[in-house]
Amino acid sequence: MESSLALELVRVTEEAALRSARWTGRGDKHSADEAATLAMRKHFDSVAMNGVVVIGEGEMDEAPMLYIGERVGSGKGPKMDVAVDPLEGTETVASGLNNALSVIAAAPRGSLLHAPDIYMHKLAAGPKLAGRLSLDDPIEVTLQKAADILDKPLSELTVSILDRERHSAMIATLRESGVRIKLLTHGDVMGAIETCTDSGVDLYVGSGGAPEGVLAAAALKCLGGELQGRLIPVTPGDVERCRRMGLQDPEQLLRMEDMVGREGVLFVATGVTPGDFLQGVKFLPGQRAETHSVLMHSGTQTVRYLRSVHQLFAETGALAAAASS
Ligand code: FBP
Repeated sequence: MESSLALELVRVTEEAALRSARWTGRGDKHSADEAATLAMRKHFDSVAMNGVVVIGEGEMDEAPMLYIGERVGSGKGPKMDVAVDPLEGTETVASGLNNALSVIAAAPRGSLLHAPDIYMHKLAAGPKLAGRLSLDDPIEVTLQKAADILDKPLSELTVSILDRERHSAMIATLRESGVRIKLLTHGDVMGAIETCTDSGVDLYVGSGGAPEGVLAAAALKCLGGELQGRLIPVTPGDVERCRRMGLQDPEQLLRMEDMVGREGVLFVATGVTPGDFLQGVKFLPGQRAETHSVLMHSGTQTVRYLRSVHQLFAETGALAAAASS
């Protein structure tokens, strides 16, 4: 059941990626995002599940589609919570940069945290460090613990973090410690995932979007890693939104089970622009395009890669997988 659902969901991320990739480098992040969202919404209808969006494009009054609470899927099939980011990296696509993705996570109803669209402090690590670090520790302590567990000096540790003004003190601390730093321009779902791949990144730290935190936690659950988070409500309105979404203490430490539950979770993603983990959409001669996707399931810890060649039909945007491997 999981693999057939994942295959249906990946067709949805493929469509979103194909649509948004047309906006690569065109300086228009809204159109890129809209193209991905429209395509994702349209293709959800054919997925055999009874899904409800818990992380989407926003609350119902601010998002016309894929809003929180919207029903997605054919209505028949498993009852699922669905977290979507039709385009993770809107600015990335607009600027023609690497590592934009289209992403969906799904888990049995009631499993996924309904994270509001605010920032979250995050600490992500791969399988060797999972369960052995704490977001409560000062960053210097975390670095030393990670170096000790991985049995290497701090100078051999690589830490990634979004390159943001709000991180200037943390980046200064990282530099003083002697670790290698990978500064990300955008895209912390991929930043967190890279701690579980052969990218050489050991830790992802700093703050990013809370919805992206839940999506990344779903991926890391499938990859044997760990993401811990703590929401950063700023206004009384933020605190109220956290409470409405079921968090009595909005600043509690969020562990994997708080974000993605205890049952199996599916994570699928298609590359929009090129990346180390997933290649981006390649438009080919003859109205064809190639996509690269990943399909993961936490129950079996299976990670499948899918390369598809699509025939594009200009009018409807419908595509047919001409070949896949
Ligand atoms: P969008 O796809 O919404 O543009 O988000 C990209 C992203 O880099 C996320 O990966 C990350 O969580 C968030 O923005 C960080 O926000 P900010 O750019 O405000 O630091």
